[in-house]
Amino acid sequence: MASSLGLVMLFLSCAISQAFLVSSSNYGGLFPDFYQFSCPQANDIIMSFLEEAIAKDPRMAASLLRLHFHDCFVQGCDASVLLDNSSEFKSEKEAGPNKNSLRGFEVIDQIKAKLEQVCPCTVSCADILAFAARDSVVLSGGPYWEVPLGRRDSKRAYFNKANVNIPAPNSKIQTLIRLFNRQGLNEKDLVALSGAHTIGVARCVSFRQRLYNQTGDHLPDATLEKNYYNDLKSICPTSGGNNNISPLDIASPNRFDNSYFKLLLLGKGLLNSDEVLLTGKVKKTQQLVKIYAENEAIFFHQFSKSMVKMGNISPLTELKGEIRKNCRRVN
Ligand code: HEM
Repeated sequence: MASSLGLVMLFLSCAISQAFLVSSSNYGGLFPDFYQFSCPQANDIIMSFLEEAIAKDPRMAASLLRLHFHDCFVQGCDASVLLDNSSEFKSEKEAGPNKNSLRGFEVIDQIKAKLEQVCPCTVSCADILAFAARDSVVLSGGPYWEVPLGRRDSKRAYFNKANVNIPAPNSKIQTLIRLFNRQGLNEKDLVALSGAHTIGVARCVSFRQRLYNQTGDHLPDATLEKNYYNDLKSICPTSGGNNNISPLDIASPNRFDNSYFKLLLLGKGLLNSDEVLLTGKVKKTQQLVKIYAENEAIFFHQFSKSMVKMGNISPLTELKGEIRKNCRRVN
């Protein structure tokens, strides 16, 4: 009896806080002060969980940054990536670019559980992802930017779109530009956001083709620096070892800096999609790689701008979507 009363109260409080959010947001866009009155502690809570998670596992910063990207590129930043399989839809977690690769779901679950205690039915899972991406960058030594907020959560996942919209690591430069353009992002955004690969790792399956059969002629990618190529071969054999990992930025794998771009100039980008920003014969992306390699402040500035732009891809606002109580399932 007590527990069913509790459920009714929770439902009522959800309905009330959602009505408040709707009436108080009289335009469709996002804005940084969205939780100023409804949950002013939100960012402090998120930050404290991240500090702990990243201190335990520095790679977690990279994994959370990537989660926001994989969310936004699939039907917008709506936390669709966090939904588990259900009878209604197949989870995006099962899609090629995500399977055995995306991580950080448990950290998001912990943050969400705490936020539901403190501010029930208020902070969306999509906004938690946007906050977590920004705070992960800051905790890794990268730039701070204000995160526009007010996204709501989708009521379904988009498995097929996750397979189609997220670029593959062997993509050529034209494919990368096309997939980013489809999201309203240009070459500047592509190069700056690829700089996220200044932290984190990739599995052998993501770069094997470059080592052994780049263009179907059983030869390696000629743009790979020789010593780096030899080191990578020892991590990633011709077969087996699919899940062996290598840092995306061998110079400073846990530090958010511009060394990723410096490494591209040396032929030490890990993924094909990294190196082609320089070798893909597109003047604009080549120039940007050189600028960011030379000047970290310019990279940080553009990265922040591009993260806001990516974070604004097709958000659900006002009456669309919902505030999920558990990021893994619809209410
Ligand atoms: C330009 C097109 C991109 C391609 C083709 C690409 C592809 C990949 C691949 C294949 C991995 C390794 C996955 C694995 O082997 O398990 C990876 C890791 C990563 N990606 Fe990207 N990515 C791209 C853009 C981005 C963007 C825009 C961001 C964020 C803004 C991002 C953030 C990351 C991070 C931080 C990691 C490391 C994750 C970890 O260590 O858990 N990537 N990416």
